[in-house]
Amino acid sequence: MKMKKEKIRRYEFGTPYDTGATVKEIERTEGVPEGFSYYPKTETFTYVLRERDMVFGLGETVRGINKRGWIYVSNNTDDPEHDEDKVSLYASQNFLIIDDGHSCFGIFIDNPGTVTFDIGYTNDNVLNIHPEYNDTSFYVIDGKDPLEIVHSFRELTGKSYVPPVWAFGYAQSRWGYKSAEEIREVARRYRELGIPLDMIYMDIDYMKDFKDFTVDKERFPDLESFVREMKEEGIRLIPIIDAGVKIEDGYDVYEEGVEKGYFCRKEDGSYFVPAVWPGKVHFPDFLNDDARRWFGDKYKVLTDAGIEGFWNDMNEPAIFYSEDHLKEVFGQLREFEKMDLDIWNFFRYKDVAASLPNYPGDYRSFYHDFNGKKVRHDRVHNLYGFYMTRSATEAFERNVPDKKILMFSRASYIGMHRYGGVWTGDNTSRWGHLLMNIQMMPALSMTGFLYSGADIGGFGGNTTEDLMMRWVGFGIFTPLFRNHSAMGTREQELYRFERTDDFRNLIELRYSLIPYICSEFMKAADNGGMYMKPLFFEYRKDDRCREVEDQLLVGDSIMITPVYEQNKTGRYVYLPERMKFIRFRSYDDYDEEYLAKGDHYIRAGLNEVPVFIRPGKELVLAKPARCVEEIDLNDLIHIRY
Ligand code: GLC
Repeated sequence: MKMKKEKIRRYEFGTPYDTGATVKEIERTEGVPEGFSYYPKTETFTYVLRERDMVFGLGETVRGINKRGWIYVSNNTDDPEHDEDKVSLYASQNFLIIDDGHSCFGIFIDNPGTVTFDIGYTNDNVLNIHPEYNDTSFYVIDGKDPLEIVHSFRELTGKSYVPPVWAFGYAQSRWGYKSAEEIREVARRYRELGIPLDMIYMDIDYMKDFKDFTVDKERFPDLESFVREMKEEGIRLIPIIDAGVKIEDGYDVYEEGVEKGYFCRKEDGSYFVPAVWPGKVHFPDFLNDDARRWFGDKYKVLTDAGIEGFWNDMNEPAIFYSEDHLKEVFGQLREFEKMDLDIWNFFRYKDVAASLPNYPGDYRSFYHDFNGKKVRHDRVHNLYGFYMTRSATEAFERNVPDKKILMFSRASYIGMHRYGGVWTGDNTSRWGHLLMNIQMMPALSMTGFLYSGADIGGFGGNTTEDLMMRWVGFGIFTPLFRNHSAMGTREQELYRFERTDDFRNLIELRYSLIPYICSEFMKAADNGGMYMKPLFFEYRKDDRCREVEDQLLVGDSIMITPVYEQNKTGRYVYLPERMKFIRFRSYDDYDEEYLAKGDHYIRAGLNEVPVFIRPGKELVLAKPARCVEEIDLNDLIHIRY
């Protein structure tokens, strides 16, 4: 008798952890996933790629939409230099779809340790998947096309987090707003210029000596009334929370954590001592149920003051140095002092000094109490940010059940998409990073991280007005829409530039698009769909769409074709079918024309946003308002195909 083949099959290797990635139990299928060879000696799964296979997914990673041709290592890492030669960023979202246009399947490698995906890097025809420790649930998902596979994957992993509606507004952030006064000034400038704004972010500067859940009373004398004052202006304040808890006598979070035993320990039972912004810290053991609950409840001091949103940071976890490794490094450097630093010793010296941050040995030197077992951190490393975020969101459900709280994180793993969104970390003010943002978004949508976006304008480096304007021109379509930059870089609040009228028009366009963005977002969240898609996912029989890497479908009605190069006044676009081209200068100033299927050069000046309406569809626009909650949903403009 032939057994019916299940749509989702789960294979098991070693002793998989219960990571919390999935919400549906799938019975184990014996053996090795069909099409794959498994080499136990090297613990590698190998699949021979078909000539026309394209590989989609992996969420937040470098390079193009088709991941073929590079190697990616899931190992959540705080590395601000994330250029295309990097293999690891802040997230591990091990879901892939392999599709040659005729048949396709998805795989999800549920393994929270380091997993290497060599997608035609060593050999163009071979996909090798190598978990460092092979305790893996290996899921195979069948489907007739990529969208069906995504749908099944999301049934397996659960519904995406939905933020409060105001979180779809525009946000201004910067590392370095040092006082309530400075933040007031940001709000004032935006309101004065009439540029809509819903949120101002508070970076580590608001804390007292970078201690979580503290507020510097001198620079922020009365947070509660400040929160109220800003809210009356239609602006929410969104503070950051970091993973590390400062070691300091008298600091309640530290003292309680030590007393209750909620911090991560080393092999010998003593607490692990890494260092981050506040200097030496302990890491809360978010993988432990009690510790997670305890830390989550700490957010209450800020929600009690009226705060309605947070961003969780440094939760890969990032380590500047550890006490132990610092000692080793100092020891080794002393040896170099006596040496003639010739070419070899000089490079060794440099390597030793540079080995301090995110040192792999550190991640092997502390433990979690996970589901009743002592587990070495590196084996479950990629869960840390997920469980920090889970700690917060579960606490919000307990402590502020009547309010929706905004929550997103830097580090993530599949499953975290049920608890919060992500931002894609410390990018740079470079044109290439705008393209990277465009190419990452559909992969994030696939994995369920719908509420996501990049630091608009670039975090590191000095932005320019034209880059900022093009980035805003794309960012108005990303659910998380935040202008954020690093201390010491050129200031990039929109009022710092000359063309504030153009910026106002673009941000207003975002606000006009809010009804569309929110309804398409909700559809994707409810139905396990994608908010942003590669063209190929909808036009799979059109070979040209295989190679379109810089145009996206946003929701069901529109295609966007952002301009992402310097000094360009337009670009080439490919239309898989006839569409209506709208060139927006503002929500009420645009030209429209029908363009036939095929290639076109379209003009799009710096202040113009090209949008294409698909046949039979329409785009709904609202009149902009200074903040989302003031948008009048009864007064909509329809632009029909
Ligand atoms: C990290 C974050 C960045 C933040 C900075 C200071 O680099 O990624 O967004 O501004 O820390 O808190």
